[in-house]
Amino acid sequence: MSPLSASTPQLTPALLTDQLGRPLRDLRISVTDRCNLRCTYCMPAEVFGPDYAFLPRTELLTFEEIEQLAEAFVTLGVQKLRLTGGEPLLRRDLPDLVARLARLGGVEDIAMTTNGLLLPRLAAPLKAAGLGRVTVSIDSLDPEIFGRMNGLGTHPDRVMDGIEAALQAGLGVKVNTVVQRGVNDAGLRELWLALRDKAVLRFIEFMDVGNHNGWNMDAVVPSREVLARLSEDGLGSEFAPAQANYRGEVAARHQDADGHEIGLISSVTAPFCGDCSRARLSAVGTLYTCLFAGTGTDLRAPLRAGATDDELRSQIAGVWQVRRDRYSEERGEVTQRQKVEMSHIGG
Ligand code: GTP
Ligand code: 5AD
Ligand code: SF4
Ligand code: SF4
Repeated sequence: MSPLSASTPQLTPALLTDQLGRPLRDLRISVTDRCNLRCTYCMPAEVFGPDYAFLPRTELLTFEEIEQLAEAFVTLGVQKLRLTGGEPLLRRDLPDLVARLARLGGVEDIAMTTNGLLLPRLAAPLKAAGLGRVTVSIDSLDPEIFGRMNGLGTHPDRVMDGIEAALQAGLGVKVNTVVQRGVNDAGLRELWLALRDKAVLRFIEFMDVGNHNGWNMDAVVPSREVLARLSEDGLGSEFAPAQANYRGEVAARHQDADGHEIGLISSVTAPFCGDCSRARLSAVGTLYTCLFAGTGTDLRAPLRAGATDDELRSQIAGVWQVRRDRYSEERGEVTQRQKVEMSHIGG
């Protein structure tokens, strides 16, 4: 029987759930595997060097194909779309894609995760096309530390310029900071003070994504320690936990007495798989049901073979229904395995 047949009511869009009862709400779409930075925790320069074979353009989904797949996901219950990369702003004519996605009915939120370098040129056209908000990554305000972390010596002012451009354009802005012990953890309060009046700053525990970032537990700064480092007294007492904006929110929100908000993303010390409603589509059209997945499901082949919208929906629903992923909760138990690269599914 087709997974979407009318006689199986539990498969109607609003009720499509996986094996752990989690609905499909959020689709993250990678539009390129390329990036104009080489962050050590994501695309280390020694691996992603001049000879690295990035995807040829013909392999990438076209905007028409992305739109068709996104529509299939939306009819299955997806309400949030997030564009990722690599660095999504490197994809030519990105505002055209945003405009296509913004026309899909049922989408409540279109966001993008970016390193911000190209925002001075692109923030206004993206906003005009229907983008609601951006999440910009910056790990330190210290030029030497940030230059080392981004692998190319790029100055933090260039990212700050991107953040300003996004604010000017009227986009909502959040900021992501990956925290690594002994690397950027000394400058967290400085970063917070510089950004707290501009954007919601989120601190991410360094994760074992991909296969090349040399992750080890010693380099993880647990979020409770981040909180202590952020506050003036070194105890975290400036911040009080705030309610989540929505079920399954990745970042645990906290506020200081003036209402400035931060988010703590504690995938290592406090995994949030229980509410994970995120699907990820790679730039070549492979569907992954976990950030740490080893394999995915090719949707491009059926798409290019002329599958109908119903057939695509059936295939996606079938994948979601058998999903059992909870990698972060199992981290201690699973042996090392090959994982998809972050630059293929964008975090
Ligand atoms: P909002 O829509 O604003 O709530 O953003 P978000 O937190 O869902 O999106 P964002 O891409 O900014 O996520 C922040 C970071 O959290 C990512 O870059 C990842 O490092 C991490 N993250 C996001 N989703 C997941 C997830 O499903 N699992 C794990 N382990 N980490 C995630
Ligand atoms: N651990 C935690 N966060 C990471 N990101 C990339 N690699 C890692 C990692 N190893 C984050 C980036 C960016 C988003 C794409 O994912 O900071 O915000
Ligand atoms: Fe590029 Fe973002 Fe990865 Fe850094 S974290 S290398 S900016 S994709
Ligand atoms: Fe979702 Fe996998 Fe992240 Fe858990 S580890 S929250 S299942 S993406």
